[in-house]
Amino acid sequence: FESIVPGELGDPAVRAAEVPEPGAVTVVVPTFNESANIRQLLWQITESVPARLPCEVVFVDDSTDDTPEVIAEAARDCPFPVTVLHREVPEGGLGGAVVEGLKTAGSQWIVVMDGDCQHPPSLVPELIAAGERANAGLVVASRYVEGGSRAGLAGGYRIAVSRGATWLTKALFPRRLRGISDPMSGFFAIRRSAVTAEVLRPLGYKILLELAVRSRPRQVTEVPFVFQDRFAGESKSSAREGLRFLRHLVGLRTASPVARMLVFGLIGATGFVPNLLGLYGLTAAGVHYVPAEVLANQLGVAWNFLLVEHLLFRDRRGHRKGWDRLGRFALLANADLVLRIPLIALFVHRFGMGALSATALALVTTFVLRFAGTEALVYLP
Ligand code: GDD
Ligand code: MN
Repeated sequence: FESIVPGELGDPAVRAAEVPEPGAVTVVVPTFNESANIRQLLWQITESVPARLPCEVVFVDDSTDDTPEVIAEAARDCPFPVTVLHREVPEGGLGGAVVEGLKTAGSQWIVVMDGDCQHPPSLVPELIAAGERANAGLVVASRYVEGGSRAGLAGGYRIAVSRGATWLTKALFPRRLRGISDPMSGFFAIRRSAVTAEVLRPLGYKILLELAVRSRPRQVTEVPFVFQDRFAGESKSSAREGLRFLRHLVGLRTASPVARMLVFGLIGATGFVPNLLGLYGLTAAGVHYVPAEVLANQLGVAWNFLLVEHLLFRDRRGHRKGWDRLGRFALLANADLVLRIPLIALFVHRFGMGALSATALALVTTFVLRFAGTEALVYLP
């Protein structure tokens, strides 16, 4: 880190030892090129946080513009400590930045909010009060409870996307997200004791989702909030960020081997589409159906490989080279096919099974073997 620490603050380690008075709050703000919003945000926080609530603000910055300098300058007029952690390597994007902030926060309560004034700082004391009242580890500022709204989410398209994403996410994690109406919110308070930074693997915007699913705070409560208009500039979100979100969801959902096997199977099932299309094209071009089958199958294998690489084992690719992985993956997939027929014969002739049940058992057996093989031989944990 390159740390700019204005005022009388020491380095972060020393500061962490000074701050944790009971009831104190660290406000963590991720920033990416937000220089036009900084003064307004710090001013709003100054207005909102009463003197009885000791407060510090930690910016975690990945900017390519002069945001860190603007923060350092604006911090001189603040009645509370302000720190900037500037990251040279913006790993994990917004979520990665927030986790860095959580790690250095010294207070009992940590509030995470955006740097563009879409999250009203006037709610900071209320979030903490609600958490103390409910004895909660996590307090979510929600747009979807009575009194909240998404006024600042411009455009029907973004609203529809946001709704769909919220619905999908809640459907994927019904238990972990119970009691959280707005798992996509970027505005929340969390007790320092509820943060288990070691288990977090943040990826992009949805850091609250990451915390709710992996840190599992014991008690959650919500406070309504109105998502404001941006003070200046434009959202940094993009279609690319949308893809990152899908990868994040898959990563969260496939933390257990059983879930991973399920997704592996689903990906395998989608391989039928390129497989059949290839078969159709090749036979239409006059290729004999046997070599056509073999070739078309490789198309399905390639398709599966791409999906498995980019969705399922994205974090586990580092151990082997790309060609090595592809070779091993294809070998396992074809071994699966070659193994199937003798296995069926074995089940029928040795164990007297019917052809249908023997085929089903052979399919399941080779599938489990292929999954285990892919985990162990292609993507090391
Ligand atoms: N450090 C860092 N690194 N900060 C980032 C990055 C990054 O890669 N990307 C964005 N930020 C900062 C922005 O500078 C801003 O302070 C905050 O994160 C939110 O970014 P926006 O680009 O303004 O997000 P948004 O308004 O589209 O989305 C917000 O609202 C959504 C709900 O509709 C976020 O809070 C989302 O998490 C939330 O789901
Ligand atoms: Mn915003």
